[in-house]
Amino acid sequence: MAEPITTVEDLRQLARRRVPRAFFEYADRGAYDEVTLRDNRAAFEAIRLRQRVMVDVDRRSLATTLTGQAASLPLAIAPTGLTGLQHGAGEILGARAAASAGIPFCLSTMSICSIEQVRAASPDPFWFQVYVMRDRGFARELIQRAGAAQCPVLMLTADLTVQGQRHREIKNGLSVPPKLTLHNLLDIASKPRWAWACCARRAVRSATCTAALGATA
Ligand SMILES: Cc1cc2nc3c(=O)[nH]c(=O)nc-3n(C[C@H](O)[C@H](O)[C@H](O)COP(=O)(O)O)c2cc1C
Repeated sequence: MAEPITTVEDLRQLARRRVPRAFFEYADRGAYDEVTLRDNRAAFEAIRLRQRVMVDVDRRSLATTLTGQAASLPLAIAPTGLTGLQHGAGEILGARAAASAGIPFCLSTMSICSIEQVRAASPDPFWFQVYVMRDRGFARELIQRAGAAQCPVLMLTADLTVQGQRHREIKNGLSVPPKLTLHNLLDIASKPRWAWACCARRAVRSATCTAALGATA
């Protein structure tokens, strides 16, 4: 019997087993020589909790407010493009998990599930991330849709004027827009559970992501 999941590393290993390699590495690896990726990990690992003793621990709480919204922890789920590549319902599951943990979820413009689909399937409104796009009309339309879905926060991403060079994506043949190669088909065929979850969610596919790719170009 598989051991229970107790750490983030356990989840990472589970994803490695279940998700096609190209998509797993899209989320797991970084750009260029991955210097920032290593620095980020080292920075997180250097954080220590401040130990305090002989204080009243009866009523402990990590609750706070983020952008005026109550949160059970000082954390939010950052926008992650193509979450639906990790699991067919990735964005919906992310929004639901955040809602059940009492923290904000930010939906990326580059999502597989649309704003409306995520809103219909999640209990709480979520934040929405938008890029500075050449096609201002499309950006305006996205913002209006986010407003209609009651998104309380709009997060503007300003650092994607140039795409970073991601060596694993080049090696794995993961391109934008995606192209099906024999290598990718074999990769997908080796993860039937993932493929099934994707097929099961086929009905909720949206054109938002594809349109966004066109609008940024
Ligand atoms: C796989 C992956 C996909 C991401 N996709 C997006 C995205 O679509 N939009 C965006 O604004 N940021 C995106 N980001 C950036 C994250 O939202 C976040 O800002 C970044 O990882 C830094 O977070 P940290 O400061 O908590 O480490 C992505 C990051 C990763 C690792």
